[in-house]
Amino acid sequence: MTVVRVLQVVGARPQFVKLAPVSRALAAAAAEGGTPFEERVLHTGQHYDDDMSARFFDELELPHPAVNLGVGSGSHGEQTARMLAGIEKVLLDLQPDIVVVYGDTNSTLAGALAAVKLGAPVAHVEAGLRSGNRRMPEEINRIATDHVCDLLFAPTEAAVANLQREGLATRTQWVGDVMADAVLHGVVAAREHGATLDRFGLRGRRFAVATLHRAASTTAYALPRLLEALEQAARRFDAMIVPLHPRTRAAIARYRGEWRPDPRIVICEPLGHRDLLQLLDAAAMVLTDSGGLQKEAFLLGTPCVTLRDETEWVESVDAGGNRIAGIGTAAVLSAVDELTSCAPPKQVLAERAAACYGCGKAAARIVAALPGAMLPGTDRWGAP
Ligand code: UD1
Repeated sequence: MTVVRVLQVVGARPQFVKLAPVSRALAAAAAEGGTPFEERVLHTGQHYDDDMSARFFDELELPHPAVNLGVGSGSHGEQTARMLAGIEKVLLDLQPDIVVVYGDTNSTLAGALAAVKLGAPVAHVEAGLRSGNRRMPEEINRIATDHVCDLLFAPTEAAVANLQREGLATRTQWVGDVMADAVLHGVVAAREHGATLDRFGLRGRRFAVATLHRAASTTAYALPRLLEALEQAARRFDAMIVPLHPRTRAAIARYRGEWRPDPRIVICEPLGHRDLLQLLDAAAMVLTDSGGLQKEAFLLGTPCVTLRDETEWVESVDAGGNRIAGIGTAAVLSAVDELTSCAPPKQVLAERAAACYGCGKAAARIVAALPGAMLPGTDRWGAP
């Protein structure tokens, strides 16, 4: 059987989490006598701190990147341009049969554009999500990526409907959500490994987990409001753990100098995926501006307050596990109180999430579909 050469393009923390199940499924396909794949990972270097990158590769046992472009931080234009130039060179060198991009970051858009311009088939994992807010850089990345990719792997029915509305139905396939695969796989180890609960002294306590990282959350206007909302919300719990993204840490230093919150708030470094899953699983509530955390909380049956004005994960709201609160203290407190009294039980929420996102088979479906994207009988890399 012909070996299919797959180039996985990743660069930011949530993409390492999504890569893990697909990488496992690629290895399993060959081991089970199916299509043999040769997998290479291209890391753009968008995230470079050990806490944001190396730790995820170790813990999730990801293949060591064949290439790390080391693009680092920059404006969106600069960052994306450096990635495009670097990815193009790697594509010409490695000549993969198919390129796979994940999610909605600048690394996603750069990977998709570089590949399509060279005529290489490209697949988008987590296609079709829309927040309706075109001021989010991620929304532009999603729309542009979906419109240039050959294969669109949609995680939800809502995502399929979005792609149909945009005329992309023929390239779309519902596969379920690779984050469901990652959570269902990861939570087993997380539950066995109680070290993070011990580290923060959380056993037997009613605690919340809060994160902020989006550009819109870290402006001079939004950041003080969000910190105030978190301080007030923390009083509803015994403790609130706040792992700080580097962007948020830098914004606090810029606008506040120092944040000395209510003593119930415990600030820490960005956590690895297993540690985070352990906290999300045992928490009474999650407060976040992250798309990934909203969904991880839902899959684990933990209620979530979303610190934005919209969400891509409408299923979690419909299921009663997520409230869209924005950044104001009054709205955040009322969402916390409503969820405390009315959220469905953990098991019920987790079952509703599994019904929306699939039960851990998304990566296997993706891997089964990849060979279909290869162009039969052609060699786009210039061989006779
Ligand atoms: C990116 C994604 C976002 C995703 C998030 C997960 C885009 C447009 N956004 O946002 O969709 O949810 O990753 O974290 O691609 N920094 C460090 N060390 C790092 C990484 C970042 O110090 O390892 C700092 C830099 O100062 C950088 C800032 O964080 O300027 C923001 O990083 P960037 O990669 O631009 O975007 P994220 O906010 O992480």
